[in-house]
Amino acid sequence: MLDSFKLEYGTLEERVMPDQSFVLTDDVRAALNKVDRPLSEAHGLPNDFFTSEAYFTFERDNLFGKTWSVIGCGADIPKEGDLKAVDFMGLPLLLTRSKDGGIKVFHNVCSHRGLELVNGEQHVSRFIRCPYHAWTYTLDGELHSMPGIGGPGKNQCPGFEKGKHGLKTVRSAVWLDMIFVNLSGDAEPFEDYIAPLTERWKDYDLSLLRHGGEKSSWSLTLAANWKFGVENHCDGYHLPMVHPELNAVSRLEDHYPIIGPEGYYAGQGSIAYNAARPGDAPQLPRFPGLSEKHQSLSEYISLFPNATAGIHIDHLWIVWFQPIAPGKTLERMEIYYPSGEVAEDPAYAPVREEVHRFWLGVFGEDQWAVEGLQRGRASPAFEGGAFSPAMDGPAHAFHKWAAEFIQRD
Ligand code: FES
Ligand SMILES: [Fe+2]
Repeated sequence: MLDSFKLEYGTLEERVMPDQSFVLTDDVRAALNKVDRPLSEAHGLPNDFFTSEAYFTFERDNLFGKTWSVIGCGADIPKEGDLKAVDFMGLPLLLTRSKDGGIKVFHNVCSHRGLELVNGEQHVSRFIRCPYHAWTYTLDGELHSMPGIGGPGKNQCPGFEKGKHGLKTVRSAVWLDMIFVNLSGDAEPFEDYIAPLTERWKDYDLSLLRHGGEKSSWSLTLAANWKFGVENHCDGYHLPMVHPELNAVSRLEDHYPIIGPEGYYAGQGSIAYNAARPGDAPQLPRFPGLSEKHQSLSEYISLFPNATAGIHIDHLWIVWFQPIAPGKTLERMEIYYPSGEVAEDPAYAPVREEVHRFWLGVFGEDQWAVEGLQRGRASPAFEGGAFSPAMDGPAHAFHKWAAEFIQRD
């Protein structure tokens, strides 16, 4: 017999004055303990984790903020002097490409009176200038000039220590062109965080990767929580239902689940990737020095919390999920090839277009599924559901990681 579900309303007071801040109460912890169980008994994360505004802010500070999260990519700021403002869950951040080609991340706020420093995307030759009172900063975030600080025509002011008023840096690192930040500043060293995945993919010379140029980017706004994007990337089980074209060339039977060292990554791989380009199309350059097995291998890995990468013998894509609101996420994708020739030589244009069309199709097909997962979480009758012990290991690994991480001190 099916369990019945009884909807319980709070008191009138609770409904009129909802608690605006999220608290890890004993009830929430009890729900999270149900995630951390053997697969056959485990439930998924509670509905609030996907729908609540209060939890969204809590998650920014206690989950994204305490580890390494992706906020953009190097291709967003390709040239020296490029600037890009990023709104990260309500926090204004700024990406800069400095003179040495390095990437830096700052809090996007002027040290004078706190104006949001850069709006949108800009290119500057040397200095970032605040549009309010014209203070300027170098691309490395140092305060450079404060016109009129001492009165009209006086650019100095006794007692003002310029060196103390630079932009505030955010701890950052770049890997596979993805820009990661650690907002709290005290997460483990990035090298340790990324080591399990670099170890897994150590046979690939990732330093050869170059952005594919035209037809190598896209973005999609999902009416869904970011975690459904990640969960869906960990899930190969939906392949026959959602991706008939992909399933025709790489069947569910050809896939294998991937669960990395706890707390780092999960995903899926396939042993049936076909790199051969049909007809007269030029064959794409391949990562050199790899075994026969690698020629038909592909792996799709979600690096928790919000980065995903898909590696193949002849290309790699990165996808990241940028949370905008509990039920809204920007999904970004960029494609890279193990040689700069692919972007530069027009002969490759049709192949690049085909790779782009294929992946855009696959991720576009996923959209209705993740949006349906979001709508399902509006139902109080759903209490975390169940996982298939055979098929849902990677998705469960993600839920389990999030349940555990959010409770860390
Ligand atoms: S707020 Fe930026 S110069 Fe005044
Ligand atoms: Fe999918």
